[in-house]
Parts: sequence; C-alpha cells; structure tokens
Amino acid sequence: MIISSSLDYREAARRRLPPFLFHYIDGGAYAEVTLRRNVEDLAHLALRQRVLKAIGEVDISTRLFDQDLAMPVSLAPVGLTGMYARRGEVQAARAATRKGIPFTLSTVSVCPIEEVQAQVDRPIWFQLYVLKDRGFMRNVLERAWAVGIRTLVFTVDMPVPGARYRDAHSGMSGPHAGLRRMIQSVLHPAWAFDVGLNGRPHDLGNISAFRGQPTKLNDYVGWLGSNFDPSIGWADLQWIRDFWQGPMVIKGILDPDDARDAVRFGANGIVVSNHGGRQLDGVLSSARALPAIADAVKGKLTILADSGIRSGLDVVRMLALGADGVMLGRAYAYALAAEGQRGVETLLDLIAKEMRVAMTLTGARTIADISGDSLVQAGI
Ligand code: FNR
Repeated sequence: MIISSSLDYREAARRRLPPFLFHYIDGGAYAEVTLRRNVEDLAHLALRQRVLKAIGEVDISTRLFDQDLAMPVSLAPVGLTGMYARRGEVQAARAATRKGIPFTLSTVSVCPIEEVQAQVDRPIWFQLYVLKDRGFMRNVLERAWAVGIRTLVFTVDMPVPGARYRDAHSGMSGPHAGLRRMIQSVLHPAWAFDVGLNGRPHDLGNISAFRGQPTKLNDYVGWLGSNFDPSIGWADLQWIRDFWQGPMVIKGILDPDDARDAVRFGANGIVVSNHGGRQLDGVLSSARALPAIADAVKGKLTILADSGIRSGLDVVRMLALGADGVMLGRAYAYALAAEGQRGVETLLDLIAKEMRVAMTLTGARTIADISGDSLVQAGI
C-alpha cells in the first residue's frame, strides 16, 4: 500500500483491525459533532502563502520543558495501544525516540511503565487520570519517577467517561461485548497472531502491577467506570503538585478561565484538548478554543494542543493559533495499527516534511517565526 498521508494509515488500520478496535480508535462521543469539528475547523484555517522570502533551509527543532525536540510534536497518551500491535506502546515509544520527540504512555497501557522506559534511551512522558483510588495514583507516580520519567501529563477532562455510541454498536462495550470481541478477533487471524492473542494481550500493565494480578479488558470498563472521580477540584490535586518534582502538564483545558486556574495551580503546561472529541460532544474544537487561551496564558506556561491534527500543515496551524507544541492521537494510532513502529516512523517523517513545506511557503524559517501572521486571519 502506498502511504502518502495519515489518512492512508486510517484506511490501512480499518482493514487490519477487528471492527471493535478500529471503531474504538476512530470514534468519538455521542453524535461525533466535536470529532468532526476538530478536523474541519483546522482544515478551514487558511495558511497565508508568502513567496521569495529567501527562506533557505527551515529548522523545525524546538525546546519544550527543557528538552530538545526534533519538532514541536509529541505522541499523545492513547489507551490500549498494546492491542493495536504487539507490545504497541514499546513500538510507538521507539519510533518517537528515534525521531527525537516524546512518547506519552497512557495510564491504561498494555505494557507497564518499566517495560516501555527500558526499551528507549530518553525519558518518556507519563499520563495519569484523576482516580478515586489514590493509592493506585501514588504507586504509579512512584514507579514512573523511579524509572526516570520527569514529565507528567495529568488528564482532567474525564471526571466521568464519555458515552461513545460506536463502542456499544461495535462490541467494545455493551451487551455480550466479550463474546462479540472474541468472534471479531477470530475473524482477524493476522491481527490476533500479531498481538499475541495466545498470550494475554488484554492485560493492562500499569493496573495489574498494582493489584498483583492481570486486569483483563472485560474488567477494564468496570474498573475505570468506578474509579473516575467527579468530585475532585484543583485543591485536591495539590498533593500531586507537591509530590511530583518534574514538569506537570494539565491535559483537557478548553476554556481561558481554566487555563488561568492552571497557571495559579503552578502547572508547567497545559494541553488544549477535547480528548479528540471523545468526551463531551458539542464542545468547541481545539482550534477554536486555542486563540483565547493563548491570549490568556501565553508565556506563563507551555501551551500544547491536540484534537484533529492529521498533518504537518495542521501542526503549523495550531502553532499559528498560539500553541508551543502539539500532540498527535489518532494519526499515530492508525499508523501503529497498520505498520507498527515502522508506520509511526513513516508518519512522523511525513509530518516533518509537511511542516517544512508549510513553513517555507508561509515564510517561516524557524518555529519561532510561526505566528498569527502565518494565517490569513488569526482565529477562525
Ligand atoms: C485517547 N486519548 C487519551 N487521553 C488520555 O489522556 N489518556 C488515554 O488513555 C487516552 N486514550 C485514548 C484512546 C484513543 C483510542 C484515542 C483516539 C484517544 C485522547 C488523546 O490523548 C488525544 O487527546 C486525542 O487523541 C487527540 O485527538 P486526535 O489527534 O485523535 O484527533
């Protein structure tokens, strides 16, 4: 298959994965309005073409949280990636590290923290959810710190799980989910062989290690559902701020007032995100939310953005709207499902190439040169 964009990987992933997994990655909350807005609002932002600016070689490298990065891109936390490809978290982490960007390990990964970090020679980032089980939170933070992880991404837009109709229809959740997943898996023998269905691909490393026994996918929904904590506020997070000595990034900010609260809290960064349209359907796209947030807090902390980014052009658009860097979610999940580590590396090469083209033709030689002037009009 000829791969020329992340959309090709989406199609390749659709072919390779059992439907319950493809739709788990691809889908969003309720009617998927925000999911579509994320992509469409970015696409509608007109880049401002400039010519004869004697740009020469563009430099896409940057620095975030005192780390030198090959480009202002990181891999977002994506749960269950070890089910898209064999030891998927390790494969994605290797690809990111080889390409000089950070990989963020989700709380709900198949491979445990220790396994992933041992396979790469740069510290990965670690993502944590707000959970009722504070013992689990403290334990997992200690484990992350012990293996050398310093950047903590704290996801706050999941005080309750969002309703995803596609998951109910596809067999990921809902009645007879286990049986339906089993049947679909048998019908996809190449995938089942790859992820090692005879082993225990559905064990969740970070969770099982705490509990002393593997947590199966069937238990996962129940565990998560009973563990999200809607009663939590900023003050309840103080112990984590005190405990964690490295950069702390709050993920899931969509409003300037919350961004200001994050500054007051002492966060080092935020991720402007609606969880890829997977939580509250109907909220703003990240691209629309970002300019007001950048107005409120730019320069006070590092602003990352995600949701809807499918190309290097989208990366440049997010930077032009005020982000210092971005996270890729589905774009890399599709590539991982389609071709493992090689797929993610190819995707990152494509993103870098697309960024260079966009920067050259908008007259930006460095990342710092990208600004609201790179768009025909700032904002949408
Ligand atoms: C996610 N996301 C997510 N976020 C998080 O903080 N922890 C997690 O475990 C997950 N899991 C997860 C699984 C899948 C399949 C997807 C698609 C997303 C959200 C993710 O980090 C990111 O915010 C979005 O994916 C960004 O949107 P795009 O790039 O997918 O449009």
